[in-house]
Amino acid sequence: MPDNRQWILVKKPAGLATEEHLELVTRPTGEPGPGEVLIEQFCLSLDPGQNFYMQSSAETGGGTMTIGDVVRGWGVGRVVASKSERFPVGCYVRDRFGFAGMQDYAMLPETSLYPVDPGLAPLPAQIGVLGMPGLTAYFGIIEIGKPQAGETVVVSGAAGAVGSAAGQLAKIVGARTVGIAGGPDKCRFVVEELGLDVCIDYRAADFEAQLAAVCPDGIDLYFDNVAGKILDDCLALMAYRGRVVFCGSVAEASTVGEWDGLRNYGAVLFNSLQWEGLSIHNYYDRFDEAYLALEGWFSEGKLRHREDVIDGLENFIPAFHRLFRGANFGKLVLKIR
Ligand SMILES: NC(=O)c1ccc[n+]([C@@H]2O[C@H](COP(=O)([O-])OP(=O)(O)OC[C@H]3O[C@@H](n4cnc5c(N)ncnc54)[C@H](OP(=O)(O)O)[C@@H]3O)[C@@H](O)[C@H]2O)c1
Repeated sequence: MPDNRQWILVKKPAGLATEEHLELVTRPTGEPGPGEVLIEQFCLSLDPGQNFYMQSSAETGGGTMTIGDVVRGWGVGRVVASKSERFPVGCYVRDRFGFAGMQDYAMLPETSLYPVDPGLAPLPAQIGVLGMPGLTAYFGIIEIGKPQAGETVVVSGAAGAVGSAAGQLAKIVGARTVGIAGGPDKCRFVVEELGLDVCIDYRAADFEAQLAAVCPDGIDLYFDNVAGKILDDCLALMAYRGRVVFCGSVAEASTVGEWDGLRNYGAVLFNSLQWEGLSIHNYYDRFDEAYLALEGWFSEGKLRHREDVIDGLENFIPAFHRLFRGANFGKLVLKIR
C-alpha cells in the first residue's frame, strides 16, 4: 500500500489557519475493511468552511476537527483498493460528507460515496457545480429561498463556487437575478457567462447606490455568502416579507463569532423578513435528489461553471488563503494528481 501525505491540524487557529496550525505528514494508507474503499484522490475542494471546521470546537459549536485530525474537506478520485461491491477498483467517486480530507488517499465507507461519471464533466466540476457547492446552492435556493418567477434575487459571492450556482438556479426558476462580486472582471463573468441580469462590484465607491438602483422594488430574496457590510446593505433594501438565506460569512471568516454588528437589523422586524441559516449537513438524506437535479440541468447546458485549479497538495495553505482575498476566480480546486 502506498504512503499517504496528509495535512493535519496541529494547533487550533484563532483566525485564518496558517503554517503555524497545519503540518504535512506522511503516514501509511492501510487496507480497506469490509464495505470500505481506498481512493487515490485527483482533486480536492478548497472551501472557506474548512477554516470553520479547523477553528470550531465543542465550546463554539460545530466542532468537527480536533488536533491531529486530517483537515476536513471534499475530494474526487479513483478507487484503488476495495471491499465494496458497489464501488469496485477503477471506478470514480466523490465523497458526500467532506471526510475525504486534504490528503493523497482517502479511506471511506461505501455509504459516504457518490458515483462519478467522468464523461459528464471534468473532475474539478464534479466537486464544484455538481458537488458540495452545487448542493448548497440547491438547498438554499430551491428548498429554503423558493424564489418565484419575477422576484428579485440578490446573490453575493456571485462569481464563486456556491454563488455562481445559486444565481443560475434562481435564473432557472425565472427570477430576476442580481449578482454581487469583487471587481469588473468577475462582474462581467457573472452577466456574460453565467447569465445573471446584472452584477454590482461591491468594491465600487457608490456600491449602495448602484445596488438600490437595480432593486427598485426591493430585494425579495437575498442569498448571503459573505455577511458583514454587504449583508447590512442588503437588509436596508429588503422588500416586505423578503427572505434572507444565510449561507456563509466569508467577509468575517477570520473569527468564530465576535462579528461586526449590523446597523439595519431592524428591517427583519419592520419588513417581516424570514432569515434562515443554511447548513447542508441538515440535508444528508436528500443529497441524491439534489445531485440528480444538478446533473439534469448541467446536461441541458443550463449550469455554466468555472474552476480555478492550483497544482500540488503541498500548496494547500497558500491556495486556501486565496479564498479570503478574492484571488480565486471560480471554484477553487487543488489538483493533486
Ligand atoms: N452553509 C453551508 O452549508 C455552506 C456550504 C458551502 C459553502 N458555504 C459558504 O458559502 C460561501 C461561499 O463559498 P465558496 O466555496 O463558494 O467560495 P467562493 O465564493 O468560491 O470564494 C470565496 C469568495 O468570497 C469572496 N470574498 C472574500 N472575502 C470577501 C469579503 N471580505 N467581502 C466580500 N466577499 C469576499 C471573494 O469573491 P470576490 O472576489 O467576489 O470578493 C472570494 O473569491 C462561504 O461563505 C462558505 O463558507 C456554506
